Amino acid sequence: MNRIEGREKVTGLATYAAEYPVKGVVHAFAVQAGIAKGRVTDVDARAALARPGVLAVLSSGHPPELSQDAAPELALFQRPDVAYRGQIVAAVVAETLEQARAAARDVRVQYREDRHDVRLRADHPGLYRPEKVNPGLPTDTVKGDVEAGLAAAAATVDVTYTTPVLHNNPMEPHAALAVWFEDGGLTVFDSTQGVSADRDTIARTLGLAPEQVRVVARHVGGGFGAKGTTRPHAILAALCARAVGRPVKVSLTRQQLFDVTGYRTPTIQRLRIGADADGRLTALDHEVAVQSSTLVEFAEQAAAPARVMYATPALRTAHRLVRLDVATPSWMRAPGECPGMYALESAMDELAVAAGLDPVELRVRNEPEAEPDSGLPFSSRNLVACLREGACLFGWERRDPAPGVRREGRWLVGTGVAASTYPSRRLPSQATATAEDDDFVVRLAAADIGTGARTALTRIAADALDVPPERVRVELGDSDLPDAPLAGGSMGLASWGSAVVAACEDLRRDGKQGEADTTAAVKADARLARHAFGAQFAEVRVDEDTGEVRVSHLLGVFACGRIVDADLARSQFVGGMTMGLGMALMEQTVTDERFGGFVNRDLAQYHIPVCADVERIEAVWLDEHDERLNPMGSKGIGEIGIVGTAAAIGNAVYHATGRRVRDLPITPAKLLER
Ligand code: MOS
Repeated sequence: MNRIEGREKVTGLATYAAEYPVKGVVHAFAVQAGIAKGRVTDVDARAALARPGVLAVLSSGHPPELSQDAAPELALFQRPDVAYRGQIVAAVVAETLEQARAAARDVRVQYREDRHDVRLRADHPGLYRPEKVNPGLPTDTVKGDVEAGLAAAAATVDVTYTTPVLHNNPMEPHAALAVWFEDGGLTVFDSTQGVSADRDTIARTLGLAPEQVRVVARHVGGGFGAKGTTRPHAILAALCARAVGRPVKVSLTRQQLFDVTGYRTPTIQRLRIGADADGRLTALDHEVAVQSSTLVEFAEQAAAPARVMYATPALRTAHRLVRLDVATPSWMRAPGECPGMYALESAMDELAVAAGLDPVELRVRNEPEAEPDSGLPFSSRNLVACLREGACLFGWERRDPAPGVRREGRWLVGTGVAASTYPSRRLPSQATATAEDDDFVVRLAAADIGTGARTALTRIAADALDVPPERVRVELGDSDLPDAPLAGGSMGLASWGSAVVAACEDLRRDGKQGEADTTAAVKADARLARHAFGAQFAEVRVDEDTGEVRVSHLLGVFACGRIVDADLARSQFVGGMTMGLGMALMEQTVTDERFGGFVNRDLAQYHIPVCADVERIEAVWLDEHDERLNPMGSKGIGEIGIVGTAAAIGNAVYHATGRRVRDLPITPAKLLER
């Protein structure tokens, strides 16, 4: 089945947040803090207000009314304090975007500057143990005696990996268009991963009832987590529209995305693993240091996947957090699992070398009976099958384990493997299904952020109604539709699909009308360890003279329950793996230690893979049947593709060159370092 909105998208007819035709719309442009820490002492807007077309300047000089409940990153202009460089401290509203942008440069902001600290380091005195880590997981876990396990091991590794700040770069930059109505109602056309939650947050921030706010997002050009929470541009549009009595559009520039839409925290991860003479783990210790802002405690759960992966008598995981003068980190594709599995799966490769074992075999030998930390049975777990299938497809049995010995001209050639995992969760959702003439209309406030959710839900509804998909229309992307959770945490389809199936079944009983709310069903889900698994294989070539790394082949084998639509699923897996390639070799946002904020803030300097970097990426999956997940038997597939990819590539670089780079990205400079 082709993507339903494919034609609209390629012909430019699909409407994104900044493109809704609204009469009388004017534009706002943000003024951002030029210091990393301190307070605004004066905002002189006279020059800006004198420019053509300028309607208003907002700042903390005259705080606009906002709810006391506003989250700190959304409480625009409420206080003069500056928590990070790039924070929004003022905004100009003008008739055109160009006028607003030009006038924003003329807003004179004076500061009292304090000393700032923006550098995460393993010995930072401010590191502390948060109460919980995302999404509500225990901060630390301990089982057995790690020190004894390490002391008794025949082979051990004690290694530290670091990952940099990373930024989501969806093709559609964040934008919002806010329209107030005479009755006090507000409509926001926003680029968001979840219209219901966005509506609730906007309402709470502005002190409105949720019924007074409507959020519309029919098409979203990518999110990856950056649009999973309400970002300040949406509040800015609403405040500016209220101030000037006109609809206001805020379209963030690519550079502004780097400052105010979140980022993946940098990580420092120490791993200590021991194995006995047979390669069975005796201990695993994963300790992580991450950062957050002074505004909000955001604690990324990078050590969480170590609780899921391998059998060991001694297992310790720990998270430490430091609050710096930086923007608040946020979600970026597979938060937690992605950086955590990079470190764990790189360390497992180092352990395989230390133990003289094949890295596929090492993982197979440490396959657990039940989830290692919780002891819960897995709903299904096919990591070993993924590893075996991948090894077969990749020709792994022919691999010579010796590093740095294969050569094709100037290129050193190597292969690597890593495991992948991501939780398979679902959240409560509502949906309705209606028979209209000869067709069926399914309605819910889901979001299609480019994944093809609309198409997949159409297939799910058609299956449940036992009619051809041509007779089903799915309406989503509008908070006036039945409440639905966000497209995030790889939970979208599992959550929405459960409600759609239930609504369609209700319609079949009723004949005309069906509705569903899965709150009770989700609450009644049995306590099981629910995760998708996968195996990533990489082949790289490394130029001996320049240190250039080319990824000549990536193969991902996944076990994600039932795959609802093969084309859409392949696109998610390959997309995730491509992002993992970027993480391994290119992506890095450099924090400006002198001035705060980030140094590289555009796609000229934040490098992501382009087609020429992607030589051959293949994603395949096993036929996994798991009846205990949801009515579709599906596991989420949005995030698992990025998990493990960077480790597989790093392990292949080691195999090619004999050099272990433990600090991402693996750049030519690091490979050439003597
Ligand atoms: Mo994903 S980082 O939950 O959008």
